[in-house]
Amino acid sequence: MSFLAASRPEASAAEWWRQAVVYQIYPRSFADSNGDGLGDLPGILSRADYLAGLGIDAVWLSPFYPSALADGGYDVADYRDVDPRLGTLEDFDALTAALHERGIKMIVDIVPNHTSDLHPWFREALEAGRGSAARERYLFRDGTGPDGSVPPTDWMSTFGGPAWEQVADGQWYFHHFAREQPDLNWDNPEVHDDFVRTLRFWSDRGVDGFRIDVAHMLTKDLTEPLPSREQLGAIPIDGNHPLFDRDDVHEVYAEWRAVFNQYDPPRMAVAEAWVAPSRVPMYARPESLGQSFNFDLLLADFDAAMFKQVVDDNLALAARSGSSTTWVLSNHDVVRHATRYGLPPIGVLASASERTTGEPVERAGASWLLSGGTAPALDREGGVRRARAASLFLLGLPGSAYLYQGEELGLHEVAGIAPERRQDPTFFRTEGAEIGRDGCRVPLPWTTEGAALGFGTAAPHLPQPAWFADSAVSVEDAEPASTLRLYRRALAARRALQSGEALGWVVTDRDDVLHFTRPNGWQVVTNFGTEPYPLPDGEVILASLEFDGTELPGQATAWIAPA
Ligand code: NOJ
Repeated sequence: MSFLAASRPEASAAEWWRQAVVYQIYPRSFADSNGDGLGDLPGILSRADYLAGLGIDAVWLSPFYPSALADGGYDVADYRDVDPRLGTLEDFDALTAALHERGIKMIVDIVPNHTSDLHPWFREALEAGRGSAARERYLFRDGTGPDGSVPPTDWMSTFGGPAWEQVADGQWYFHHFAREQPDLNWDNPEVHDDFVRTLRFWSDRGVDGFRIDVAHMLTKDLTEPLPSREQLGAIPIDGNHPLFDRDDVHEVYAEWRAVFNQYDPPRMAVAEAWVAPSRVPMYARPESLGQSFNFDLLLADFDAAMFKQVVDDNLALAARSGSSTTWVLSNHDVVRHATRYGLPPIGVLASASERTTGEPVERAGASWLLSGGTAPALDREGGVRRARAASLFLLGLPGSAYLYQGEELGLHEVAGIAPERRQDPTFFRTEGAEIGRDGCRVPLPWTTEGAALGFGTAAPHLPQPAWFADSAVSVEDAEPASTLRLYRRALAARRALQSGEALGWVVTDRDDVLHFTRPNGWQVVTNFGTEPYPLPDGEVILASLEFDGTELPGQATAWIAPA
């Protein structure tokens, strides 16, 4: 057996992120300390011991900055402050200190592609008018047609609807996402300077790293004449595309890297870059952001061949960049993996039209990439069983694991939120054709009682279904076989077992079984099928379900201790 990635010496303390378990918190839905229905920073602080008890290495906070919440906080009105509904800068400092005391690092989200339309720069741009320096910070253009009333192009926004919005004096501005999220002009040095200021601001406050939102979108070439939507679609994304994954975006990250490296230890960064696999290493290089998300498992069914392909591809990509690879099964943008695995397989990147219809259950590997819609009824228990097996598989892999709040409870997606309670701009901009991402952002259940199941004292900003109580932290705490207790045991064992960043496949006689071993002899076996699989000799130290330790049942994972 040969190991797939060069076995590296143990990562130095400065490279703590290489094999870290990072837990994503969506702050408005984690814990509400002041009874306004919205989660907040003191709420997270009150759960610091819960986070420590999980055994994570770092927390990644989704945006907590002042925001009108046109896009769940990804419309930032001030990059260097806290939304007053979520707390204060002092609360942020207290939370960082509490995490650090417990050995947990702090990663914050940076949203550099666009600001909120309430950002002072955008307000200034509207007032200053056409041709002003203030408009140069954004992407304003004149319209076409005799009176300029036709948008500059027919491009569509990622959330649906047109990508241009007209302002009072007739000019139009470009927005990749919602109209409340005007794109910045990264050809403008002021934009560069301001983000460096923001990175220093949070680094100086003790932040350990940054998650970079849509890292592949910042730089653009809007030289006229602009292509039509159809022409745009035909341009290869090879580094020179007008809108996506341009080579020149790495000039921005080279600047940022110089800033990160002025700190001791250097601040880490992870790119949210939805780019072709061959282009991922550019973002993950040490000279650039240093690490990049790999979202392949969000798009893969619970299927041995798909999982193996994803692992092989991504270890090879990591070897090219010199970074560690990353693994993700759930986040705030996609249908929770317990639910994905409770619905019939769709095949990687299957289109919405290929899906069957039936009960109204939110569907799609990545609901904002694949449109939402309907699907056959959900197999709730089967979904959780497969999710537990997939999570243990993922946590056994070399590299960094990014977990999303609530997956440790085996939570399902919340389907059927009433239209008037929905918040996601995708839902509104597609006039309901895409359900959007609210179903994975419902506030966590901590207990079985009260108006918000322990999330807070008031009704939460997104409604919790009654069945959330069954997965409450208090319930799972008391249940030895719960998903929460499984995650705690897994994270503790992983900490003890983690070794070099390599993996060797062990050949099995079954297409539906994956078996790998790590350099120290730790073995992971996942049975994706339904027939039991006889395990090799060795002590099973953890399994995604209870069994006698010899024959691994279907849809289950076992960890076997080093001999
Ligand atoms: C990616 C974020 O993960 C998503 O939640 C957000 O809507 C878009 N970027 C726009 O900021």
